[in-house]
Amino acid sequence: MDIKLAVVKGDGIGPEIVTEAEKVLDRIGELYGHTFVYTDILAGGCAIDATGVPLPEESVEIALQSDSVLLGAVGGPKWDGLPGSMRPEKALLGLRSKLGLFANVRPAKLYRALADACPLKPEISENGIDLVIVRELTGGLYFGERGRKDGGELGEVAFDELEYSKMEIERIGRVAFELARKRRKKVTSVDKANVIETSRLWRETMHALSKEYEDVEFEDMLVDNCAMQLVRNPAQFDVIVTENMFGDILSDEASMTTGSIGMLPSSSLGSTTRGMYEPIHGSAPDIAGQNKANPIATILSCAMMLRDSFDLTAEAVAIENAVAQVLNEGWRTSDIMDENGKLLGTREMGDKIIEYLK
Ligand code: NAI
Ligand code: MG
Repeated sequence: MDIKLAVVKGDGIGPEIVTEAEKVLDRIGELYGHTFVYTDILAGGCAIDATGVPLPEESVEIALQSDSVLLGAVGGPKWDGLPGSMRPEKALLGLRSKLGLFANVRPAKLYRALADACPLKPEISENGIDLVIVRELTGGLYFGERGRKDGGELGEVAFDELEYSKMEIERIGRVAFELARKRRKKVTSVDKANVIETSRLWRETMHALSKEYEDVEFEDMLVDNCAMQLVRNPAQFDVIVTENMFGDILSDEASMTTGSIGMLPSSSLGSTTRGMYEPIHGSAPDIAGQNKANPIATILSCAMMLRDSFDLTAEAVAIENAVAQVLNEGWRTSDIMDENGKLLGTREMGDKIIEYLK
């Protein structure tokens, strides 16, 4: 397979971690007979420095012509003083909207070798944490009408409207069911249908959709219960699908149960196979340029890309197994270092993962 990737190395540790991810992809290419062609595009702080804007038109065009986008991280203190519309983060929102990426997919997986990093009790974490949150990304409360008005005796009143269409619910639902088919075949749809109307439409739509996926176990759960279940018994979950704001909150909760931010990948998907894949962490300016950053989140993002955009499951599993083995053997970057760990730099961790690829 020939795969064209638009690559945002970005700012801070971005270039260092993306370089390791490309090394891993190239090795996968050699082992499985694929060619990866990378085109670097400017986005974020480095784009502001070079062109005056966070997301140049040319970057968007190249991204649209690519098969997928790989992103390191953008932003840093250097650009903190800029006004909102000119900030590096604008590049992320711009890419998501230009590429029509409405589904944010965030796996939370606790590696057995890193079990001590889990803040939950051992008797809970030993059952395993390996779940994915599929968050609707372009609808709901964050995109509704909002404003302020005079409330008379009440004083100033602010409002935010929450709206979801059946179309939006169905398309995010499909992402979740398709993903579950590639995993443990269970979908939990999270809503607040006992109170809010959008959640009732959400629930009706998900129930109807579940009939098309009889091979996938389906349940719904109220969001407050889900928040509790995530720390009480995370092993019960495979794929959780939910609306924008609930997903924002639950995905942060879930990611913390697995320990280090340097380990967690993510993807943003739309209605085509083109996705954007990136670690959940930021540009870590405090360790940039020191060969200290953990490249695993970015490397695991590549595994997600191979599976979700290109259906290359064996290749994705090879990367995930290599990462697990490297951790099992005690190799660590500084963010996940423990008493018996063997410390590696960013480049050396990339090399080590390649060594374990089969
Ligand atoms: P951050 O995620 O960059 O860093 C938080 C802490 O985690 C730091 O101590 C950092 O050294 C550490 N860390 C992060 N990634 C690591 C890795 N791979 N290996 C080892 N340690 C790692 O979050 P922070 O400090 O809040 O933000 C820094 C900059 O990144 C800001 O300008 C922020 O706006 C931007 N940012 C960008 C994101 C993106 O591009 N998607 C997401 C989040 C923040
Ligand atoms: Mg958040």
